[in-house]
Amino acid sequence: MSKEFWTTVDRYLCATLIPADPVLDATLADSTAAGLPAINVAPNQGRMLHLIARIAGARRILEIGTLGGYSAIWLARALPADGRLVTLELSPTHAAVAQRNLARAGLDGRVEVLVGPATESLAALAAGPAAPFDLVFIDADKPGYPAYFTAALRLTRPGGVIIVDNTVRTGLVADPLCTDANVLGVRKLYELIAAEPRVTATTVQTVGSKGHDGFTLIRVE
Ligand code: SAH
Ligand code: DHB
Ligand code: MG
Repeated sequence: MSKEFWTTVDRYLCATLIPADPVLDATLADSTAAGLPAINVAPNQGRMLHLIARIAGARRILEIGTLGGYSAIWLARALPADGRLVTLELSPTHAAVAQRNLARAGLDGRVEVLVGPATESLAALAAGPAAPFDLVFIDADKPGYPAYFTAALRLTRPGGVIIVDNTVRTGLVADPLCTDANVLGVRKLYELIAAEPRVTATTVQTVGSKGHDGFTLIRVE
């Protein structure tokens, strides 16, 4: 089994289940043209985020890690007309690409892109009117995950959902000898989750066009 094979299966699944979407295609094309890395979620993962948001009835969503706005579009499309998504991005370049993509998707009125280090934006959100959130999607720098989880917990209402991307990392997360800073960030996240009585969490491993990874699904009790 290889990433090439998983990608072939992903192509079949996406072609079968996910209608053609010129707005999302243009989002990825413009992101690539602007030099952004292709580390957005896959279409079937984006749709999973969209479905979880709808199943949860989310009206206020927070995303940490915007890139070109691809996952933000999936999530924002799950919102009712008066819903709001706030998405945090360190890079002004990435944020500008995302703004254009969100405008083309007709979502710029519903989505706010906050530029700067996520820890600073999260501190500002705690004092502002945007919180509490019904759903938080954590997908920025992995060493920051422990801090983002702690902040997300504070900003999410009881019964709300936190989803964390990239929490398996080709299985390295289960290797206690691994010293990669990204893996250490995810392992620290697991320690926080395990010690936190206010959450119920699970992680599901995934294979597909993005390789072998996984996502963590958390309910705030
Ligand atoms: N959620 C996106 C992918 C995000 S990639 C999607 O699936 O479409 C991770 C993003 O996090 C990158 O754009 C990167 O610039 C941003 N990032 C990295 N460190 C950050 C930080 N400290 N604060 C906020 N964003 C950060
Ligand atoms: C990377 C980041 C991501 O959020 C992702 O989904 C895949 C890869 C990365 O930094 O390499
Ligand atoms: Mg990711």
